[in-house]
Amino acid sequence: MPSSPPPLPSPSLALPRVSREVRLAALPAGLPQAAHFEVVETSVPVPGPDEVLVRNRYFHVFPALRTLIGGGVEGAPFPPLRVGDPLFGAAVGEVVAVGAAAGAPGGGPHVGDMVHHYLGWRAYAAVPAAACRPLGDALPDPVAHLAQGWTAWHALTRVGDVRTGDTVFVTGGAGSLGSMAGQIARLLGAGRVVGGTGSPGKAERMTAELGYDAVVVRGAGPLSEQLAQAAPGGLDVVFDTVGGEELRAALGAARTGARFALVGALSGQLAPELDGTSAPVELDTFALIVKNITLRGTTTPDEPQGQSDWNERFIRSLRSGEITFPHTRVAGMEAAPRALEEVFRGRHFGTVVVEL
Ligand SMILES: NC(=O)c1ccc[n+]([C@@H]2O[C@H](COP(=O)([O-])OP(=O)(O)OC[C@H]3O[C@@H](n4cnc5c(N)ncnc54)[C@H](OP(=O)(O)O)[C@@H]3O)[C@@H](O)[C@H]2O)c1
Repeated sequence: MPSSPPPLPSPSLALPRVSREVRLAALPAGLPQAAHFEVVETSVPVPGPDEVLVRNRYFHVFPALRTLIGGGVEGAPFPPLRVGDPLFGAAVGEVVAVGAAAGAPGGGPHVGDMVHHYLGWRAYAAVPAAACRPLGDALPDPVAHLAQGWTAWHALTRVGDVRTGDTVFVTGGAGSLGSMAGQIARLLGAGRVVGGTGSPGKAERMTAELGYDAVVVRGAGPLSEQLAQAAPGGLDVVFDTVGGEELRAALGAARTGARFALVGALSGQLAPELDGTSAPVELDTFALIVKNITLRGTTTPDEPQGQSDWNERFIRSLRSGEITFPHTRVAGMEAAPRALEEVFRGRHFGTVVVEL
């Protein structure tokens, strides 16, 4: 009598046993270098009941890791990194197995779904199903889901309150957030968009590829003079990812009633002489008072509806060519520590992603 056919293999049977991840190997003095990280082999995690197992395809290489390595900042959403910890951050990948509860009917993501989550820097991640954002297939290349447009959109619409015809200054305008903010300011009707960078080479690309009307370059002469030329009528909105001398110069160039959205602090975060956890700057408060200027710090809001509305708009704008996702791809886990060192040194344009 013929034996009954063997059961169909579940997707997890096809999985390898070994994963790889990037860990902090040593605490640096000054800016971390590739040698302060190690790529190690580890077991592929088994997803718990409420978790899914994700095979990561892309993860984001970002400067805030310097702050976490330096001990973190109280109140920030991410914990500090200790020696031996795996790094983490935004990632996009495919669900390859689901835990018992996560796989229940009507439950979380299913095998085969592409999801966004925050356990990057490893080949396989066991992620709480509730912490995964399903991506659908509206974008031919899911890497664009690592764009930081939602943070930029939120800061420009609700904090900067960009209005038609405004002059907007985006510091760090070639970076991951800034490259989106410059383009979004234009979408919102800004009349003139000025960017800031520390690199003359990036300045050229910013006008040619990102639509900036003018760019000021840190280290290429007084920023106040450069801003006076770039924005002769003054600034209405400042999207600030840098702080430091760029924030100070922007304050001098601001018009009455200008709105400043303080989003990042790269001047302190990436200063070799600091530990990345503070960003001191001296400002003339008289300028704030007499010009009725608003300075407001802002973080990425956890607001699923707002984010999903932005995503729909982003996908439409990408498809129509109204906006681009400027990014640099680095291939393979082995290259990730070097890519992080290069981000700390400002080598790249746009968002930096590792592709696995
Ligand atoms: N508020 C929030 O919710 C939120 C969310 C995400 C990120 N952030 C913060 O926003 C900031 C920007 O993040 P990002 O991911 O978009 O980073 P990023 O701009 O891509 O960071 C890399 C860039 O920083 C610039 N840089 C390097 N050293 C610098 C220095 N000493 N002073 C000034 N700039 C320097 C370089 O650009 P140039 O060569 O062009 O100068 C470099 O390419 C970070 O401080 C980040 O922590 C905040």
